[in-house]
Amino acid sequence: MNVEQLITVANEIVGPKKGILAADESSPTIKKRFDQIGVESTEENRRSYREMLFTTPGAEEYIGGVILFEETLGQSTSDGVPFPKLLSDKGIIPGIKVDKGAKPLAGYPGEKVTEGLDGLRDRLVGYRDQGALFAKWRAVIDIDEAQGIPSRFGIEANAHALARYAALCQEADIVPIIEPEVLMDGAHSIEVCQAVTEEVLVEVYRQLAAHRVILEGTLLKPNMVIAGKKCPEQADVDEVANATAITLLRTVPGAVPGIVFLSGGQSAVEATAHLNAINALGEFPWEVSFSYGRALQQPPLAAWGGKPGNIEAAKAEYYKRAKLNGLARSGDYRDEMENAA
Ligand code: 13P
Repeated sequence: MNVEQLITVANEIVGPKKGILAADESSPTIKKRFDQIGVESTEENRRSYREMLFTTPGAEEYIGGVILFEETLGQSTSDGVPFPKLLSDKGIIPGIKVDKGAKPLAGYPGEKVTEGLDGLRDRLVGYRDQGALFAKWRAVIDIDEAQGIPSRFGIEANAHALARYAALCQEADIVPIIEPEVLMDGAHSIEVCQAVTEEVLVEVYRQLAAHRVILEGTLLKPNMVIAGKKCPEQADVDEVANATAITLLRTVPGAVPGIVFLSGGQSAVEATAHLNAINALGEFPWEVSFSYGRALQQPPLAAWGGKPGNIEAAKAEYYKRAKLNGLARSGDYRDEMENAA
């Protein structure tokens, strides 16, 4: 294991102004996104959409890493440059989603556990040969207070899988991004989200320690602490920032180089405003950044609509979101910037 390299890569991904583009939608998920804009999800359409994002000039100032789906890791630009090389040449580190998705947890109706550990050691060697220097594994924790969800067992099972994945990644010189996502789909309050997120993160770091994972060579990808979408009482930006900062300070060791939030269904503007407000609170022991999927891609996806004539407009939308999130890294984002040309 090359510990020095793990630490260097983890820190580079969250270098000044930088965050991550999560472009690792699985085939069913990218189909859902394409359905919304009336584009058929063929291999060529998926490839050309990703090429549009990855060739956006200047994005590398704000994007330190891109998470790819397995299919994309093996694809190339229309003139034959493999995507991992295209990204590396721009100074963007290529990463790979390695989990096989969240599946129903036997014995615990309504809960899920993420699969993909069997054979992972061998798959990681192959991804590393293809140029991936970091990986992602997403655990999904739903909240349903009436059903007693999440159960203690559900939290432990997911944390255990995350830690096994992380240890295997480090063995293969791949930086693991540890993503325990507490979903914002329910009707729960921000206080309940905070309590569940705290319990989940405490268990994740207990399991990472038990699995002898070197925290300096990892990144955490958590949800923000936010009320469920169906909760009648929605917290404002400052409340979300405060609750999120308190929760992370209580649970995430200072040895972790960076926290890269998922957007989880927040609008693109909300996700930027929240990240900005958290960073405006002051100094933290870790870099506080983004690893957004929808919050970086929804505006360019809508602008593109599958039409070649819209590619430049779509690239401009992607660049804008990357830049505004880059500014939010230092609390320098302002609402008015949304309307600037
Ligand atoms: P969202 O930002 O759309 O939540 O996606 C991030 C991600 O990679 C989820 O695993």
